[in-house]
Amino acid sequence: MELVGKSTTEILQWAVQQFGDRVALACSFGAEDMVLIDMLSRLGKFKAFTLDTGRLHEETYQLMAKATRRYPQMELHIMFPDRAAVEQMVKEKGINLFYDSVENRKTCCYVRKIEPLSRALEGLDAWMTGVRADQTPHRATMEVVENDVIPISKRPIVKINPLLHWSYEQVWEYIRANQVPYNVLHDRGFPSIGCAPCTRAIEPGEDLRAGRWWWEQDNKECGLHVTAQGDLVRTNVT
Ligand code: ADX
Ligand code: SF4
Repeated sequence: MELVGKSTTEILQWAVQQFGDRVALACSFGAEDMVLIDMLSRLGKFKAFTLDTGRLHEETYQLMAKATRRYPQMELHIMFPDRAAVEQMVKEKGINLFYDSVENRKTCCYVRKIEPLSRALEGLDAWMTGVRADQTPHRATMEVVENDVIPISKRPIVKINPLLHWSYEQVWEYIRANQVPYNVLHDRGFPSIGCAPCTRAIEPGEDLRAGRWWWEQDNKECGLHVTAQGDLVRTNVT
């Protein structure tokens, strides 16, 4: 199917028809992901997975439970990090290692996000995400449908970013118009929500991702969306 000029719903329809149960939505229950959950649920049953890092906000768990009830069409897989790897990492580097160095932060993201992401993707031929082009310079270079590779195995996989060209305002117009449930942290100054220790509210006028890893100067990616470029930091922790 020629995807140029297609609506977001048409792209989602294509994804589900093309890949069936071999496609899943990667969902952190942020505003963009809630739009995609709502749109996909109108098309029928669909798969989603979330990476529960063990360090999420309580509000995110509340929304996870609410969304599971509200959208029975969603088959949600909750992925957890490898217990032994977390235990070893925390023993060696401390519970809040991410504040100590960029390397430690990337190690934590690898153990708590990248390895579970790789496991989630192994059973799939395609994954969908809620990334938008105006979030980071890297995301501005992404495509709605692109060739990706699974971080650890390097197996090729299709990546679908249906909201790539949506603005933040469009996301909220959809949420309001369709009474989509959303994370209450969005009302408390959090436009972008990740792990609790690594996300803070932003001040008026700040970049929408300024609250992510706020103590670092310019790295606003954890590695979930940079694997195609090979920008993946492996960890010594096994
Ligand atoms: S991140 O890489 O900086 O953490 P961001 O929060 O912008 O990502 O979310 C972008 C997209 O990545 C989401 O729309 C979702 O598709 C995916 N994603 C991010 N975090 C998770 C998570 N914890 N579980 C599953 N998917 C996620
Ligand atoms: Fe660890 Fe923070 Fe990355 Fe979450 S965002 S995995 S707590 S470093």
